[in-house]
Amino acid sequence: MIIADTISQTRKAVAQARDECKTIGLVPTMGALHEGHFSIIRRCREECSFAVVSIFVNPTQFAPDEDLDKYPGNFEADCRACRDLGVDLIFAPTAAEIYPRENLTWINVEKITDHLCGTSRPDHFRGVCTIVAKLFNIIQPDIAWFGQKDAQQLAVIRRMVADLNMPVEVRSCPTVRETGGLAPSSRNNYLNPGQRSRGLCLNQALSRAREMVTDGTTDTNTIIEAMRLIIEKQPDAHIDYISIVDNDLLQPIAEIDRPVLIALAVRIGPARLIDNIIVEPPAKTL
Ligand code: PAJ
Repeated sequence: MIIADTISQTRKAVAQARDECKTIGLVPTMGALHEGHFSIIRRCREECSFAVVSIFVNPTQFAPDEDLDKYPGNFEADCRACRDLGVDLIFAPTAAEIYPRENLTWINVEKITDHLCGTSRPDHFRGVCTIVAKLFNIIQPDIAWFGQKDAQQLAVIRRMVADLNMPVEVRSCPTVRETGGLAPSSRNNYLNPGQRSRGLCLNQALSRAREMVTDGTTDTNTIIEAMRLIIEKQPDAHIDYISIVDNDLLQPIAEIDRPVLIALAVRIGPARLIDNIIVEPPAKTL
């Protein structure tokens, strides 16, 4: 496994793999790798002959009052895990390597970023799109994988790739959940055991929403209220948003008459947790 911290080393290693007619796969991450990341890396490993994992805590997707300075990381453990998973190349640049000068060029995907996390994190997706576009330009992967756990990020990146004719195929991986339903996240490292168990309320609220849709409830406000009650039972939990949006442009809808994304963000103590499910209305019987 090659560990590269410069763009030129990375380009050289990828060019050699391409000369050997290998398919280049990329899994972009910010490190502190967990089971959610591993499931994506395994997919990449299975479906590509040259698997690249990038590890870079991208400063431009954090607002000044967010957790950039204390974002968890354990580079040695990440490298060990990648080696065990059969990764060919880790690209782990410094911020100076990626942003050597004041960055004046940004990618903004409109509309899809108006709601959900876009409301409380207004410049977040601009930073995500810009770093992902840079990684695509540096590595030029044939296929790149992203998790459904960050559903809005996935939708935004798919749209960026389509609108800008980027020559890469975006594939998604299902959300990994622990027993009880908490989705692993690097930010779960901020939680103490009590907060971790209160974090289960996100999945409980989503499961209740799924049940209500299956039972025929189509009014989204009714479902959101039921979810709110479940979250508000937890003393430490502060709701950022609970939203039901169409699964294309992520616009809020009033009635569930097509596949929808039910998504929420909740602060539990020091961590902001997000989760989501996609739900289809029950088929109508005549
Ligand atoms: P990061 O939070 O490290 O996540 C890297 C990838 O892992 C993302 O595609 C995310 O959706 C996926 N992921 C995280 N937790 C998951 C889980 N429990 N199940 C399945 N997939 C999961 O997302 C980012 O980094 C950054 O924004 C990045 C795209 C790297 C740009 O900086």
